[in-house]
Amino acid sequence: MQPFLLLFLLSQVTVATSVAGCHSDRDKDHRPRKNCTAAGFSDVPAGLEPTTKVLLFPHNLFSSLSWSSYQIFTEIYEIDLTGNKVPELTPSGAPVLPSLGVLRLGSNRLTSLPDGSFSACPALTELHLSNNAIAALSDQTFSGLSKLEILDLSSNHIRVLPRLMLHPLPAIETLYIEHNKITVMPDDWFSQKEEVPYLLLSANPWACSCSLGYLHSYLDNYEYNIYIRDGPIYQVDAESVVCDSPGSLKGKPVVELKESDLCSSATEAGPAGDALMFTDAPPTKKSLKKSICAAFC
Ligand SMILES: *[C@@H]1O[C@H](CO)[C@@H](O)[C@H](O)[C@H]1NC(C)=O
Repeated sequence: MQPFLLLFLLSQVTVATSVAGCHSDRDKDHRPRKNCTAAGFSDVPAGLEPTTKVLLFPHNLFSSLSWSSYQIFTEIYEIDLTGNKVPELTPSGAPVLPSLGVLRLGSNRLTSLPDGSFSACPALTELHLSNNAIAALSDQTFSGLSKLEILDLSSNHIRVLPRLMLHPLPAIETLYIEHNKITVMPDDWFSQKEEVPYLLLSANPWACSCSLGYLHSYLDNYEYNIYIRDGPIYQVDAESVVCDSPGSLKGKPVVELKESDLCSSATEAGPAGDALMFTDAPPTKKSLKKSICAAFC
């Protein structure tokens, strides 16, 4: 081989693999991208160009997300940490990643998300958190994310939807909460932005009692926004939201129930006609509301 050709080839190789384990290309919008898939990293390696806008680290060994370690990428748009070992997020006091639009943290080890978890990146439009073990959320978990359009919380351990959780998210378009342990949707949960065009709610143990009245009427109004998905395939399916309890309604689509089905089930253990009597616990405000509902809804 001619020496100058060898030199030329070597210089090309050097440019293309300046960091071992990463290769350079561009995303579909031509942003400069480093793809460091399954390269054994536990930290952001040194030597990546600061002009990089998309950083892919899926299936590496990151055990934390240090917001400031991405600050050198001054125009960072996307960080992909899918399939790492991040157990928790530390809220940052300041928006240290003001240009970050997409954050992928699926298949990590998150168990809870504290208030202001994403204050470091207020420009997020997509946040992917599926396949973690998230059990606890708060009204302020997503505070500051006024541009967030896609929120994926599917396949976690969520039992309770915080009443005001969606309030900081006026731009939400797609919400995935399927495959969790949610039994009830708080009244007026969608009040801040009534219509969410893509909603995935299936595979939750919905408890079909009077307190599910809000979800029931919401489904009635927005049936055409309820989807299921299989990989990249989406299908409208309002009947994917089914009761898990009480036993008599198990497997029934919520949207097919009558208001009276929901409310009568709240008292099905008691004999007919005693809807306003209290058999076990003394009446709390909530149980009183239920019983009144059972009698008159
Ligand atoms: C990143 O590189 C891996 C191979 O190392 C490839 O399988 C994957 O599709 C690439 N990701 C993107 C988004 O191009």
